[in-house]
Amino acid sequence: MNILVIYGSLNEKSLNKELAESMPALAPENMHLEIVRVPEFSLYSAEREAVFPADVAAFKQKIADADGIIIATPEYNRGIPGSLKNCIDWTSRPFGQHPWGAKPVAVCGASGGPRGTIVAQYDLKRIMNYFGARLMGTPEFHLDNSDKKIENGVLKDEKTKVLLQKYIAAFKAHVELCGK
Ligand SMILES: Cc1cc2nc3c(=O)[nH]c(=O)nc-3n(C[C@H](O)[C@H](O)[C@H](O)COP(=O)(O)O)c2cc1C
Repeated sequence: MNILVIYGSLNEKSLNKELAESMPALAPENMHLEIVRVPEFSLYSAEREAVFPADVAAFKQKIADADGIIIATPEYNRGIPGSLKNCIDWTSRPFGQHPWGAKPVAVCGASGGPRGTIVAQYDLKRIMNYFGARLMGTPEFHLDNSDKKIENGVLKDEKTKVLLQKYIAAFKAHVELCGK
């Protein structure tokens, strides 16, 4: 099973990157996780679509080829960051020709605050639901107070590691169920 993990942050030192990079070691057998940073496409405009950008087409193909997608989103002002929204908007074009329909998708996120991206995750779920993606509803995974749980780029908090392991295993089961 090939899973694409997209983290929605452009920061070099990113809590969501660290969350994403913690996942492969916790994944069950036969589940391969590829970690990618949200691509920096030009800002979307309908006029720029006329000559469809090759980097967007390639990323759409990457999504299409994956058995499932995990998105780790930061929360910016109680929503998803513009970089992630821009990426999603591009992948939704041309109209009706996007790779998200029926795609197994799980959402998670990390923030330094006490609510751990819960609002941004619902924002993202709303968009994915609109696409008709097969969203994993539960378990949810919110990494709150991340700076206390991640040390030197590595997830150290044992309780959180167990929760993340369960979340990844649940997504494997979700992807398998979607394939039936
Ligand atoms: C413009 C802006 C808005 C933010 N809004 C929120 C927010 O609504 N909720 C939250 O928990 N954190 C918020 N934060 C803090 C981010 O969660 C924090 O910067 C986090 O580290 C970003 O994720 P990253 O480390 O993966 O880049 C905000 C940060 C910025 C720069």
